[in-house]
Amino acid sequence: MTAAGDWTGKVGDVWAREWRRTERSFSYLAPQLTRAILAVAPEQGQFLDLGCGVGSTSADVAQARPLASVAGVDLSEPMVAIARERHALPNLCFLSGDALTLDVPPLGLIFSRHGVMFFGDPQAAFGHLRRRAVAGAPLVFSCFRARGENRWVDELDRAIGAPGCEGASYSPGPFAFADSAFVADMLAHAGWEVVTVERADFDYVAGEGASDEDALADALDFFERIGPAAAAIRAAAGDARRDLLERIGGRLARYAVSGRVEIPASAWIWTARAAGEHA
Ligand SMILES: C[S@@+](CC[C@H](N)C(=O)[O-])C[C@H]1O[C@@H](n2cnc3c(N)ncnc32)[C@H](O)[C@@H]1O
Repeated sequence: MTAAGDWTGKVGDVWAREWRRTERSFSYLAPQLTRAILAVAPEQGQFLDLGCGVGSTSADVAQARPLASVAGVDLSEPMVAIARERHALPNLCFLSGDALTLDVPPLGLIFSRHGVMFFGDPQAAFGHLRRRAVAGAPLVFSCFRARGENRWVDELDRAIGAPGCEGASYSPGPFAFADSAFVADMLAHAGWEVVTVERADFDYVAGEGASDEDALADALDFFERIGPAAAAIRAAAGDARRDLLERIGGRLARYAVSGRVEIPASAWIWTARAAGEHA
């Protein structure tokens, strides 16, 4: 489980330190999501990137909609600081804090790359977002499909011997929105009309280097810090740690090609609209 509060502490700090590698991991998903956002983004209005991280999606949208005003909001102050350093555009600002409580004008578009699965009560959160949006405003976000559909996670789960938790009741975290029926129902009850839900398959870039060996070492180092195996690796010591790293390395080695470790991943891209009369 990763809850919203974790992002203001250690989890957010690690993501800020590792931002280049987390950006790289999403590099094949990013254009798919940006296309979906721009397909419904109005020409102007106040936009919100919920859980903007280091700001890439906010900046892509701000660049493509110069008449709109984009606010990227994230709980993690270190990530917001990096976003500000990386992107300076006249119609873009970054704010640290909870996107649910920040004071922003009525929203004409809400979007998020993997930032909306951390609410303790998603229906209440999306209901709140609905009340902050103008009627008809689009909502576009990506989230992971099930662990078993994400080979990069499945391989790590198998290596660490993690019990499957598909079908368990809602618990905030990266896979909390894997069940599309749950999300559709939740959005409808929160005042959003679903327009489309599309499956987006992509390669998760876990490692890179001058050789396959270097790429594999990079992927192992990355997964020691971030992702579903990080806690298990940190907790293991001595021979147990060496064995675990060997098991993970053995599984990841199958994906090391031409100096990159790329492993199949799969997300949903949701597009919805704020229910109610259009202005
Ligand atoms: C998996 S990261 C994704 C970050 C970024 N969108 C990206 O694609 O790299 C999830 C982000 O959502 C942010 N987040 C989660 N709940 C939030 C909330 N209620 N308000 C603002 N940010 C939130 C976290 O701080 C974290 O940076």
